[in-house]
Amino acid sequence: MDFKLSKTHLLQQEMFRRFAENEVKPLAEEMDETEVFNRDLLAKLQKYGLMGIPYSKEYGGVGGDYLAYTLCMEEISKVDASTGVTISVHTSLACSCIDSFGTEEQKQNFLRPLVDGSKVGCFGLTEPNAGSDAAGQQTKAVYDEASDEYIINGGKIFTTNSGFADTFIVFAMTDKSQGTKGISAFVVEKEMPGVTVGENIRRMGIRAASNCEVSYENVRVPAANRLGREGQGFKIAMKALDGGRIGIAAQAVGIAQGALNEAVKYVKERKQFGRSISKFQTTQFKAADMQTKIDAARLLTWRAAKAKDDGENYGPYAAMAKLMASDVANEVCREAVQLMGGYGYCREYPVERALRDAKITEIYEGTSEVMKMVISGAMKVV
Ligand code: CAA
Repeated sequence: MDFKLSKTHLLQQEMFRRFAENEVKPLAEEMDETEVFNRDLLAKLQKYGLMGIPYSKEYGGVGGDYLAYTLCMEEISKVDASTGVTISVHTSLACSCIDSFGTEEQKQNFLRPLVDGSKVGCFGLTEPNAGSDAAGQQTKAVYDEASDEYIINGGKIFTTNSGFADTFIVFAMTDKSQGTKGISAFVVEKEMPGVTVGENIRRMGIRAASNCEVSYENVRVPAANRLGREGQGFKIAMKALDGGRIGIAAQAVGIAQGALNEAVKYVKERKQFGRSISKFQTTQFKAADMQTKIDAARLLTWRAAKAKDDGENYGPYAAMAKLMASDVANEVCREAVQLMGGYGYCREYPVERALRDAKITEIYEGTSEVMKMVISGAMKVV
């Protein structure tokens, strides 16, 4: 058992940290205020390979492992969770569906431009009436034999990246009578007639991330764009989410560590009752509790990433990591604001944004309650 990062991982971590500090941090506050993701930053994420870390060089990716991707998610999310989720949804949801279930031809056509930085991907599973109950898909795909196409009709909500994505992984019911086995997955391109991306949905946190409703009206998708077999879509979505949850756990760890770092800096400078507030033991103990919880969440996250890299059954580990890290992120950010008092509550200090951003980690890519369903399911409690 080795709890230390390898030399390569340490170098990668340092590189991600520098990128986060130099390229992301200076834009974070403004992106949050304007609720618009900076396109120059997006172009840099693509140019420097941050949108293709765990994918093979054969397809234009970086050829890193999932642990490296996890390190990237933490470093970026330390300074900006919106950038974190932009990377995460593209990498671990959109790209992974094609990487794991695509044919060689689909990988060349659809995965390559996503991981080499030419295109951005998103993942359309959630619908207004199908959130935690992902099997309740109302979007339909009907096969048209004459044209060898599927005709997709329906609407998705909360599709992260949809405002600027080129490639949409869309889940739709091909046979309602089959339940979860009646869902199929398709690669839909933005320019296909009938795809309409709505306005950005205004949110409490991760406000710079693009998140829109997307409607699909008689969208004709070649059968060659179906991923896996007809009816395999639910499994494709669940597998992608297993990996995605590791990224969100790392995002939560990053949000928490970023907020704690800010609070520690502040308590050393802030003087009350004649001394720096870091001199009070209550401050020191709070910081100790916060760091201990973050480390525990990080270790769970790394375990899940390592299990994925080693080809083990990592789904329950991913769920545990996300459950704990999202809880820790919320607690740590609340305490960071508390340590900084009135200033922490002000928008000019980043912990205010971190607290708003932390909340979503308990909700997206599976709520904490869904994580408990996955964990207890694996434990065979029932
Ligand atoms: N891997 C592979 N197969 C899986 C699986 C997994 N992780 N989880 C379930 N399955 C399979 C099951 O084995 C079962 O197959 P069989 O019938 O062959 O045995 C089938 O799928 C159905 O499984 P369940 O009966 O467990 O399915 P369920 O309907 O009870 O749902 C659930 C289980 C865990 C609650 C699931 O619906 C779920 O994960 N819900 C949350 C969805 C979610 O995370 N949504 C977030 C969307 S993305 C997002 O957040 C937006 C964004 O852009 C960031």
